[in-house]
Amino acid sequence: MPAWMPQFTRIALVPGDGIGPEVIRAAVQVLDAVQARFGGGFTTQWFDLGAERYLKTGETLPQAEFASLRDNFDAILLGAFGDPRVPSNVHAKDILLGLRQRLDLYVNLRPVRLVDARLCPLKGVQAGGVDMAIVRENTESVYVGIGGSFKPDTEDEVAQNTMLSTRKGCDRLLRYAFELARTRRHKLVLCDKANAIESAHGLWRKSLKAMAPQYPDVQATTLYADVAAMRMTTHPHEFDVVVGDNMIGDILSDLAAALVGGLGLAPSASTHPGRVALYEPVHGSAPDIVGTGKANPLAAILSLGMLLRDQGLTQAADAVEAACAQSVVERACTPDLDGSLTTEQVAAWVAARV
Ligand SMILES: NC(=O)c1ccc[n+]([C@@H]2O[C@H](COP(=O)([O-])OP(=O)(O)OC[C@H]3O[C@@H](n4cnc5c(N)ncnc54)[C@H](O)[C@@H]3O)[C@@H](O)[C@H]2O)c1
Repeated sequence: MPAWMPQFTRIALVPGDGIGPEVIRAAVQVLDAVQARFGGGFTTQWFDLGAERYLKTGETLPQAEFASLRDNFDAILLGAFGDPRVPSNVHAKDILLGLRQRLDLYVNLRPVRLVDARLCPLKGVQAGGVDMAIVRENTESVYVGIGGSFKPDTEDEVAQNTMLSTRKGCDRLLRYAFELARTRRHKLVLCDKANAIESAHGLWRKSLKAMAPQYPDVQATTLYADVAAMRMTTHPHEFDVVVGDNMIGDILSDLAAALVGGLGLAPSASTHPGRVALYEPVHGSAPDIVGTGKANPLAAILSLGMLLRDQGLTQAADAVEAACAQSVVERACTPDLDGSLTTEQVAAWVAARV
């Protein structure tokens, strides 16, 4: 881009399947409000990827579109993938896992904060009493797809999946987590099953031990994941930055999300510093509520908030997060959070507050 041109944040919009388009439309309405209030430049481009197109053409993520997403954008805002008409979800694997793997988006960041005490299933936890950032490794562990079945559908069937950890994978994620802890409450806990999974999870501990002395201002500890699950339920306020491999992070982040209101409030970012980043709600395509107006758009809007923050637009990100929190507290929200507004009404409410 020539130096004289204004700096635009280039956002690719990939709504996907099910409620994906509903929640991404909501997020775009809030983005328009951000632009109106704070100025700054955004360009957006919609990408038609998903089940509908796959069923019509057999295409999932064509190379030209992948290259465009990789080279022409600062961020991707994605809805959800998954359609009952594609039982194998092959399109979702190609698109979502394809983007994460091919862009090597190794950090999956899931911030979890309790904004209204009524949403916490635990007794006596006040707003702010849960405030953690789950940092999940996003490219390795048992999700690499190495394995298979031997003598399938017989009584001798054997099934095997490989859990893969690399020193590079551990080091780069822990580095990110330590730096993040420095911007928060300076506490980091690595959750693993190194007692049972000695090699793959032992490597995480080795990496932590080597890196911790470089961050004397961060209190770095380890917990077995089963103990972490218990402790997260009994003493959630103790957790600040929580690190786990792909599988442990997957499980603990859902537990953490349940402490603050569930899927409708859980945003995420998949990143690799210096590359286009992917922002998406944690929830799926929720085929059971498509078209009913019940889809909670706050997770998608909070994902937009993360995008704005990563682009250095702190004031705008703060405004979006505050408006979302206010909508929860004032019950200007969808039925999953005991509100009575529709997806579009919540979007309009949040946009107006921004
Ligand atoms: N990142 C993704 O794209 C992603 C993640 C999980 C599941 N999926 C896919 O989504 C499809 C449905 O999966 P699922 O039912 O297990 O999970 P889901 O997250 O789609 O839905 C689980 C339950 O939560 C509800 N829910 C989810 N998001 C909501 C929202 N924003 N507002 C209100 N309620 C919401 C749904 O109605 C459903 O009852 C499957 O095809 C699955 O593979 C995709």
